[in-house]
Amino acid sequence: MGTAIVLRETGKPEVLRGESVAVGKPGAGELRIRQSAIGVNFHDVYVRSGLYQTLALPGIPGIEAAGVVEEVGPEVSGFAPGDRIAYVTGRYGAYASERLLPSELAVRLPPGMDERTAATALLKGLTAEMLAREVHQVRPGTSVLVHAAAGGVGRLLCQLARHLGATVIGTVGSPAKAELARGAGCEHTILYRQEDFAARVREITGGCGVDVAYDSVGKDTFLGSLESLAVRGHLVSFGQSSGAVEPFEVARLAARSNSLTRPILFHYIVQRDDLTRMAASVFDAIAGGVLAVEPGKAFPLAEAAAAHEHLEARTAAGPLLLVP
Ligand SMILES: NC(=O)c1ccc[n+]([C@@H]2O[C@H](COP(=O)([O-])OP(=O)(O)OC[C@H]3O[C@@H](n4cnc5c(N)ncnc54)[C@H](OP(=O)(O)O)[C@@H]3O)[C@@H](O)[C@H]2O)c1
Repeated sequence: MGTAIVLRETGKPEVLRGESVAVGKPGAGELRIRQSAIGVNFHDVYVRSGLYQTLALPGIPGIEAAGVVEEVGPEVSGFAPGDRIAYVTGRYGAYASERLLPSELAVRLPPGMDERTAATALLKGLTAEMLAREVHQVRPGTSVLVHAAAGGVGRLLCQLARHLGATVIGTVGSPAKAELARGAGCEHTILYRQEDFAARVREITGGCGVDVAYDSVGKDTFLGSLESLAVRGHLVSFGQSSGAVEPFEVARLAARSNSLTRPILFHYIVQRDDLTRMAASVFDAIAGGVLAVEPGKAFPLAEAAAAHEHLEARTAAGPLLLVP
């Protein structure tokens, strides 16, 4: 038996409750994992609140963790008991002490990469990798706007964009977060709860606007992000921390020949080769100091509700994780 957070109804954080669950033996192509650390992501909040109805209830939420292989099922090659692995999955089930996992989702951890770091950084690092190298190719001289620049994904994205030679403008919710965003490579920061960020972006860019705007905030920032773009600029809408984006007139893109994408990480790592290539790039970036990953604030698995409260309160400046 293991323990897991089982979501039986959607709602406030208190719907996240611990239960004993049977794990069973790994089937064909599966690994049984003893999990050491579980990443907490904003996606988990959408699932818990009911905004995303992508987890069949009752179900175990969570899309990212790291741990040790305990048992290998039939028809698995490349993994053995004792291997240290991490994974991200759109199939949920990560808020648990132990689980069965399709082996094609597991990524072996390089020596020196501890499990907490991996669980803190794999999904967010892969997201930054997808955004800055695949969805839009950030190059020397690219001007970039990153919302929630002091957040989990935000800080990694700023660091990577800066490493690739971009000028990075970051929006943040408080002066303390502005400091963190500057530490992550933002040349300019904007307090977007107090200032008209689109006007400030125009001012900072000498009236041109940015080449690419990465918007994870959604409802509150989407139109301002569009206003912040240069001619032929690209709006990458990849989240909705403030709520879903309202429908809008596609013709608005014509004002400056702008483009819009709405990428989802899982679609960029469907092929195992893509997953392993991008994960290797994230692990190399961490080992090489390109991405500085903080230890992350840890909560016991049974206190998942407290972790969600923390994330939603906007007080979290950096990653959160659950420890079984
Ligand atoms: N498309 C994908 O594949 C993909 C993958 C990973 C993550 N994401 C998205 O990326 C975003 C960041 O994820 P994360 O886990 O790293 O979270 P996070 O950025 O650490 O936390 C969310 C931040 O959003 C800002 N925010 C603005 N309005 C908010 C509101 N009304 N309520 C709560 N927060 C608000 C807050 O920063 P300030 O206080 O500075 O405003 C908050 O700290 C999420 O929207 C997530 O869904 C998308």
